[in-house]
Amino acid sequence: MLLASWVDGKPVAVLPVDDRGLAYGDGLFETVRVRAGRVALVDGHLQRLVRGAEMLRLPLDVEALLAETRAFLAEQVAAGRPDFTLKILLTRGSAGRGYQPLPEAVPRRLLLAFPSRVWPAEYSRDGIALHECRTRLGLNPALAGIKHLNRLEQVLARAEWDDPRYAEGLLLDIDGRVIEGTMSNLFLVHDGVLVTPRLHRCGVAGVMRSFLLARALTLGIAVAERDVAREELDGADELFVCNSNVGIWPVRELGSRRYTPGELTRRLQGEVATLWSR
Ligand SMILES: Cc1ncc(COP(=O)(O)O)c(C=O)c1O
Repeated sequence: MLLASWVDGKPVAVLPVDDRGLAYGDGLFETVRVRAGRVALVDGHLQRLVRGAEMLRLPLDVEALLAETRAFLAEQVAAGRPDFTLKILLTRGSAGRGYQPLPEAVPRRLLLAFPSRVWPAEYSRDGIALHECRTRLGLNPALAGIKHLNRLEQVLARAEWDDPRYAEGLLLDIDGRVIEGTMSNLFLVHDGVLVTPRLHRCGVAGVMRSFLLARALTLGIAVAERDVAREELDGADELFVCNSNVGIWPVRELGSRRYTPGELTRRLQGEVATLWSR
């Protein structure tokens, strides 16, 4: 259910049918959790958007976006909605009828407010079961890391299961390397080292992932960003998924392997809690 929407700073709920975001997925988005009228990790979301805009050569008016976002947040709070999920979309707008991005295209900024999903408390407390997706991620360094509007791989992967036992799915790339979840990033702990897959070929570089990597370094936890083979997950001491919406969900089940949320997972969950209570 859409609670509110703005297009280019105006309360509008429709988009011209020739928008390139719709035709080609030519654009970017951020999904942002708003709590008590505040956005956590705002710099991370903005940095990923700016990086994505550079990679797609999409002009982004950061000042206009920030001003609109502040006004949109204030409007939601005034309407009695301090907690919601904010979706920021940037499309290349309407111009031309072919793939070629024309210089006259004027990007569109969309701000959408949705009710935040409420997840079972045991996901964070006891952990989740991870479905192992058959869908594989293709490799494309030109799009890796950014949150572009083409999410068909995730749509196919998420369509693989409707058993509510599984809260998330594990995605490998076409060469069998572990990459991420369908809507999250993945960490494992092995011999005290916090390991997360490199995302230079595919995958979305999550804002929560960056926060956790930075916090781990500050806390003196050994960290490795590297290729991860599927078999390594069976040998991991701890496993968890994360995103900026849910924080950290420990994984308690993947295939025949069972895990218990470990000390490092709990410590990092504590870091996320301080982030959200600031
Ligand atoms: C495919 C994918 N990977 C990773 C993430 C985690 O990103 P973030 O931590 O920025 O929410 C998401 C978030 O929706 C995602 O859709």
